[in-house]
Amino acid sequence: MSITLISCREVTEVPSDPIVFNPTPAAKEMVMAGAAPVVEVVIVGDPSSGSEWFINEGCNACHSTGADKIVGPGFAGIYDRGATRVGYSSSDDYIEASIRYPGEYIVEGYSNLMPASWEESEKQEIADIIAYLKTLK
Ligand code: HEC
Repeated sequence: MSITLISCREVTEVPSDPIVFNPTPAAKEMVMAGAAPVVEVVIVGDPSSGSEWFINEGCNACHSTGADKIVGPGFAGIYDRGATRVGYSSSDDYIEASIRYPGEYIVEGYSNLMPASWEESEKQEIADIIAYLKTLK
């Protein structure tokens, strides 16, 4: 005759480790400094604000909205043309650079006559003027 002994070991419940939020030191510092959480802001251009900016800033003194040359190139088709400029990742990139740093790329057949007055333009203003220039075919 055999007796089977089953041990009744007391099972203590092991509490799971508490979940610790461990931000990177830089993020921690920013939060401690009171920074708002990082949110990606998407800026959408508004063509009608862009067309107002075009007039208010006096771009129209040198640029027509058609094909005519005034002091600078006419803007008909500028958005498609911008995409072909070598050295820029996109038409948006080219147009932004043309406005902020006009001496950086000189359009063939023109002189460096555009004033460097718009280097500090707001991102929203640039997005708006690009949205407007896109409508000029
Ligand atoms: C005093 C005249 C003048 C004014 C004002 C002026 N521009 Fe220009 N712009 C030029 C000239 C000249 C060129 C061509 C030479 C060059 O590439 O810099 C040019 C080039 C450009 C180009 C590139 C055109 C192309 O065909 O690749 C863009 C975009 C542009 N200007 C935007 C603007 C905007 C937007 C404004 C107003 C905020 C403005 N310009 C105001 C004279 C002017």
